[in-house]
Amino acid sequence: MVKVLYSEKNTIKTFKIESNKTILDLSRIANIEIEGSCNGSMACSTCHVIIHKDWIAKIPAPCIDEKEMLSLLPNYSENSRLGCQIVLTEQLEGLQFSLPKDI
Ligand code: FES
Repeated sequence: MVKVLYSEKNTIKTFKIESNKTILDLSRIANIEIEGSCNGSMACSTCHVIIHKDWIAKIPAPCIDEKEMLSLLPNYSENSRLGCQIVLTEQLEGLQFSLPKDI
């Protein structure tokens, strides 16, 4: 199991999820509002999440396709990632993320 922190407004919620699930998987289990309309095939970017600054360098870098999808987002930030591409392994124990601000 991997502990993951989700920050929303001024609160931080802690979840435990089986390792090798994605942030998109977690959102569905934990009722976090991430649409994920393409179910992880990198065709929608509706799984946009913001990785906490302390964690962004610790997760594997995005592939070319993910970078392309992220570059199309109007609310892209340097900590933006696609939640369907972030696999929660034991190495990411304690990873923290949030959702992007609406534009
Ligand atoms: Fe569509 Fe992640 S669910 S890109």
